[in-house]
Amino acid sequence: MKTRYNRSIIILTLLAVLSACATSESKTEATLYDRLGGKEAIQAVVSDFVDTVGADKRITNQKVADRLKVIDINRLKELLTEQVCMGSGGPCKYTGRDMKTTHVGLQISNQDFDYVVDDLVKTLDKYKVPEKEKNDLLAILGPMRPDIVEVQ
Ligand code: HEM
Repeated sequence: MKTRYNRSIIILTLLAVLSACATSESKTEATLYDRLGGKEAIQAVVSDFVDTVGADKRITNQKVADRLKVIDINRLKELLTEQVCMGSGGPCKYTGRDMKTTHVGLQISNQDFDYVVDDLVKTLDKYKVPEKEKNDLLAILGPMRPDIVEVQ
């Protein structure tokens, strides 16, 4: 009788330990930042992405083209890297302006935005970023659309 009682206690204790392990494991799931490969990987993707957008002939917005000609592209890449790093849970602080202030007056359309998203997807595919990480990143950037798009 006593042995059976002891065995039950041991089994219950083991179950409690196992469930605690399972909980703590789900709490320490890697951040998107880590899953993307960290700062250097993000930097590489962002750099290629910005170059791809700059060369995208589908984007015929003259105000955007004119602005891209006069700004420091390396600084833009730096800021975008900070933004993605911070947004994905990494150890960075975004030091740029908010999205509304940054893009005001550029008359960016939903179509322009869609082309930029398409360029990002193509770049992520080029770097073989898996589907889940790609979707997680798009889910962070997608909600910024209303602050960036100004015209139909
Ligand atoms: C989710 C989508 C986007 C994000 C996260 C994003 C992010 C950024 C960031 C971080 C900057 C630099 C901020 C600063 O200078 O303080 C920037 C600048 C800029 N973005 Fe975007 N952007 C997005 C979409 C677009 C689209 C769709 C276009 C045009 C087709 C665009 C065109 C520009 C231009 C021209 C600048 C330079 C503005 C300037 O310095 O005067 N962006 N963007």
